[in-house]
Amino acid sequence: MTSTGSNREFSRRHLLGIAGMSAEEIGFLLDLSDGYVDLNREADKKQSLLHGRTLINLFFENSTRTRTSFELAGKRLGADVINMSVGSSSIKKGETLIDTAMTLNAMHPDVLVVRHSDSGAVNLLAEKVNCAVINAGDGSHEHPTQALLDALTIRRRRGKLQGLTVALCGDVRHSRVARSNMYLLDAMGARVRIIAPPTLLPTAAERFGVEIFHDMRAGLEGCDIVMMLRLQTERMQGSYVPSTREYFHFWGLDAEKLACAKPDALVMHPGPMNRGIEIDSELADDLTRSVILDQVELGVAVRMACLDALAAHNGAG
Ligand code: CP
Repeated sequence: MTSTGSNREFSRRHLLGIAGMSAEEIGFLLDLSDGYVDLNREADKKQSLLHGRTLINLFFENSTRTRTSFELAGKRLGADVINMSVGSSSIKKGETLIDTAMTLNAMHPDVLVVRHSDSGAVNLLAEKVNCAVINAGDGSHEHPTQALLDALTIRRRRGKLQGLTVALCGDVRHSRVARSNMYLLDAMGARVRIIAPPTLLPTAAERFGVEIFHDMRAGLEGCDIVMMLRLQTERMQGSYVPSTREYFHFWGLDAEKLACAKPDALVMHPGPMNRGIEIDSELADDLTRSVILDQVELGVAVRMACLDALAAHNGAG
């Protein structure tokens, strides 16, 4: 496979969020990702598009999927990849986010991939550095590459996004995945439902142009895609649900509730999953319905496409 390297359709310097992206830009990244899915299934996955370039993964929050897939994506495109260990960095001595970013910037990286617990922190950092910045998830704000990989998963299974009905279920309030998905699905012409207890809805949820349900069975009726969300207890101050047992009873996805959706509805989850809390364990592993591992696989391709697209506007290609 040949890397494109020159992407006139994508003229952004950073990838900070899906909000404000056009259907053409999203479609361009998904088309580019498709090529990388094929490459990733070959024995020789190595490309040279980013040879000589440096990618730094700067994760202030834990991650398995996003951090590893950005590392793989960078290496498969030929970049040198550094994983900054925040736990053993000078951040532990009180260095600020901005001083950390400026320090790394002085070493001339080409891409910073940043995850942070504060909404807006990655946008702020992008204003202070000379290189491309990719948001790998900031607080409850956005997780753009997750929404792109979710969209790619749906598009490859259903052949389109337009006209599909997608249910985002559970802790929408604290979910950056839900926010990025709402922006993306709206831009691509899908219908979005959010199904959540009132305590786990974002404030003024109607502004996202979604349908709101408080009952799983009613909300799932006729859905093409059922996307479950993790209960983000790390972002909760106080109690938002009575108990995890009761939460599963009312809001957890099991085969009986899934039967309300279309017979071939796909089950998605961005991971990490809380089995038995937001999703039944057997259903999560049922490969006739669950595409959770497809999401993980396609995440590497999407991150390669994002690095490729940004490279053209940051001195490569
Ligand atoms: N979906 C997601 O962002 O997973 P990680 O926290 O493991 O990166």
